Amino acid sequence: MEKKIRLALIAGGKSGEREVSLAGANGVEKALNPEKYEVRRYDAATDLARLAADAGKIDAAFVLLHGPLGEDGTMQGFLDLLGIPYQGAGVLGSALAMDKNLAKILYKQAGLTVAAWEMAEPEDQENPRRLLEHLSLPVVIKPIRQGSSLGMSVARNEEELAQGLAKAFAFDSEVMVEEYVRGREITVGVLGNKEITALPIVEIIPGEEFAFFDYQAKYQPGASREVCPADLPPEVTAKAQEIALAAHRVLQLKGYSRTDMIVAGDSIYVLETNTIPGMTPTSLLPQAAAAHGLSFPALLDRLIELALAGR
Ligand SMILES: Nc1ncnc2c1ncn2[C@@H]1O[C@H](COP(=O)(O)OP(=O)(O)O)[C@@H](O)[C@H]1O
Ligand SMILES: [Mg+2]
Repeated sequence: MEKKIRLALIAGGKSGEREVSLAGANGVEKALNPEKYEVRRYDAATDLARLAADAGKIDAAFVLLHGPLGEDGTMQGFLDLLGIPYQGAGVLGSALAMDKNLAKILYKQAGLTVAAWEMAEPEDQENPRRLLEHLSLPVVIKPIRQGSSLGMSVARNEEELAQGLAKAFAFDSEVMVEEYVRGREITVGVLGNKEITALPIVEIIPGEEFAFFDYQAKYQPGASREVCPADLPPEVTAKAQEIALAAHRVLQLKGYSRTDMIVAGDSIYVLETNTIPGMTPTSLLPQAAAAHGLSFPALLDRLIELALAGR
């Protein structure tokens, strides 16, 4: 029998998405073929010293951390130092994708369409009018380095903008304000190292009670409906898949990614790219992989294979 791959499954951590991460890791652990992998779990919040001590006995890591201190290049740098290969983007790609402002600058440079945006200053909380000189309402307020819609809100007037800024600045020292795009929300996965493939598109249809795809709409069972492959005209599908590939390339990503977009009329706006997308069996990227013919365990095998194949 072939030797088992000694896999470090790293989850938990300190970000606001700790619970999402732990739930994901439980599902991943269950789905990994025990004939193929010897899995050891590490919590990024408490087990880093043990991970470093075990480094010589680990063949690869599967990092299932979302948000700061995990998806942002920090864990990737730690693993690089320890000489442990891992799935997905490296230090630079992870850091670029985590910063929604820098990512948008790069998308724009690559010719992709993004919603108009401004970086907010802490002073804007008292007087948000300055921001509205360049942007039209409604706007979305976002901490630039969070996921799962944490700290985000939609503002329809100046007062809500002031409140939204206060909320977002509680999550991050850097906050952006972006024009609200009304349209159909889709997300497009990409898989591969040198040769990358765009996966079938998932459309996300949040329940009517949600102003946007917020934390609840994302994780409360039944709160949103997901359709995969999305029912879109073939030319829109092709264009969105091209955009996902371009976003993956311009952010210097590797292995896989998932880019969130909004289709509005003839335009497709790029919102952001996730370098460690949600990984429960019913999460968006696993759904897309399934429509592509890759079961959840097969997707995990593929990601680990890509990790072991090197940059
Ligand atoms: N400019 C926008 N216009 C309309 N809805 C938006 C906009 N930006 C974000 N949203 C909504 O908020 C959700 C979360 O935003 P996103 O930028 O993907 O951040 P994250 O998923 O990292 O929290 C999106 O899935 C979308 O539903
Ligand atoms: Mg998103």
